Amino acid sequence: MAPDFPVFPNGFVFGAASSAYQVEGAWNADGKGPSIWDAFAHTKGRIRQSQTGDVACDHYHRYPDDIRLMKSLGLDAYRGSISWPRIIPEGVGKPNPAGMDFYSRLTDALLESGITPWWTLFHWDLPLALQRRMGGFRSRDLAGIFADYVEVVVRSLADRVKHWITINEPWEYAFLGHVIGRWAPGLRNPFLFFPVLHNLLRAHGAALQRIRAIGAGATVGVTLSTMPVFPASGSERDLEAARIADEFINRVDFDPVLRGRYPDFLLRRARLLVPKMLPGDLESISQPIDFIGINYYTRDRARHAWYVPFLKAMVAGTGVVDREFERDGVPYTATGQEVYPEGLHRAAGVLRDEYGNPPVVITENGAAFEDRPEAGGVRDPKRTAYLQAHLAQASNAIREGCDIRGYFVWSLMDNFEWSEGTAKRFGIVHVDFASQRRVVKDSGLWYADLIRTAKARDR
Ligand code: FCB
Repeated sequence: MAPDFPVFPNGFVFGAASSAYQVEGAWNADGKGPSIWDAFAHTKGRIRQSQTGDVACDHYHRYPDDIRLMKSLGLDAYRGSISWPRIIPEGVGKPNPAGMDFYSRLTDALLESGITPWWTLFHWDLPLALQRRMGGFRSRDLAGIFADYVEVVVRSLADRVKHWITINEPWEYAFLGHVIGRWAPGLRNPFLFFPVLHNLLRAHGAALQRIRAIGAGATVGVTLSTMPVFPASGSERDLEAARIADEFINRVDFDPVLRGRYPDFLLRRARLLVPKMLPGDLESISQPIDFIGINYYTRDRARHAWYVPFLKAMVAGTGVVDREFERDGVPYTATGQEVYPEGLHRAAGVLRDEYGNPPVVITENGAAFEDRPEAGGVRDPKRTAYLQAHLAQASNAIREGCDIRGYFVWSLMDNFEWSEGTAKRFGIVHVDFASQRRVVKDSGLWYADLIRTAKARDR
C-alpha cells in the first residue's frame, strides 16, 4: 500500500534540527571556552548517569558524514546552532578564529550538498564566564553583549547564510534553568524567571536590529515553544487555571514578540515577579520578524492549585518518566509526553486568528521512543506515526489558511538530551554512542520518502 503522505505547497521547506551542545562534542577543542552546560554536566548528579556532552555525537569531527546522511534523506534545510563560546570563548572579547572557521566549513559543506543552513544563534550554551561574572541573562547588559557576538557571526557568514534564528525557547531557558533548576545554570529562584525571560527577549530584539543593519537579505526569526493548555475539568476554577497557565507558558513570549506587550492578566497576577521595564524595551522586542519559529511537542492540562504562589495553577502531564506508556488508548512518549497531534493544528490556528497570521516555521517537532536497532535497520513505527500525524495536522492547517512555510523534525539524530543524557532518543537517525555509528531509522526512511514525493509533486 502506498504510504499516506500529507500534501504541502510548492517550496515548503523540509528539514531536520539539532543544537550545538547536543551534537558537537569537542567541548574544549580549538580554543572553545566552557559554557554553562559544560559546567552543569560536569557537576555530579545533574545529568542522568552523570553523562556529559563532552563527546555527544562528535559532530564537530564527523560533520561531513552527517551531511552525507542529510543529503541521503533529501533534506532541503538543516537547523543547527552556533556555540557562542566557540566563537567568543569568554562571551566578550576577541573572536576565536578556529571556532569561526568551523562554522564556515560546516556552512560550505552544507551548501555544497544543496542543503540550506538555518543557524540558531543561542540554543542555551551561554559562555560560562558571563554567568559567573554577570549572572548571565539576569543582567540587562546581556542583550548588547549577545548582539555583539551575533554581529561577529553574521558578518562572517552573511554572504552564504540567509536564515537566522536569534534565540531558541526563551521560556524553557528561563524557567527550567532558573526556577526549577533542572537545566543549566541550575538555579532555583522564582524571582529570576521574568528578568531572565525579558532580557532574552531584549537580546532577540538587539540581535535582530544588528542583523538588519548588516543587510545581505537575511530572513530572521525567533523560536518559541508552544503548548496548548486545556482545563483539567469543566469547573470554573480549572478554566481560570488553564487561562493563566496559557498566559504563563505561551502568551508570555508570543505577546511581547508579536504584539509588543505582556499579557495584562499575568502581569497583574504576578506583579511582584515582573522586572523593571525601560522605555523602548517592548518596541525592540516586537520589531517585525520574517517568521515565527514554533516548537511543538505536546499539550498540557491545568488545574486550580491554591498552593502555587501568584499563579494558583498547576499543569500536569509533562513529567519525564522512564518508559513510554499508553493511557485510555492514548500513547505517551518516552519523555512522558502525550501524543496529541491536534495541538499543533490548534497552535497554528491561534497564530492565524489571534496574532495576525504571521509566517510560521515549525522549527521542532518530534518524539523520543525506545527504539532498538536490529539487523538491517531500526524499527520505530511509533515515531513514524507521530511524524505522520503531526505533518498531517500542519498540512490541514495550511489548507485552512495558516501561513506555515516549513517543518524541521527534532531531531536529525539521537543526541545529548540535556538532563536526560543520551537516554532519550529523538533522532530519525540512530546513533550508537560507543562506536558513533549512525543508522537511518525507519522513520528517517519514511521522511525521505515523503520529501521525495512532495518534490515530485512540485515539478
Ligand atoms: C526542546 C529543545 C531541544 C530538544 C527538544 C526535545 O525543548 O529546544 O533542544 O531538547 O526539546
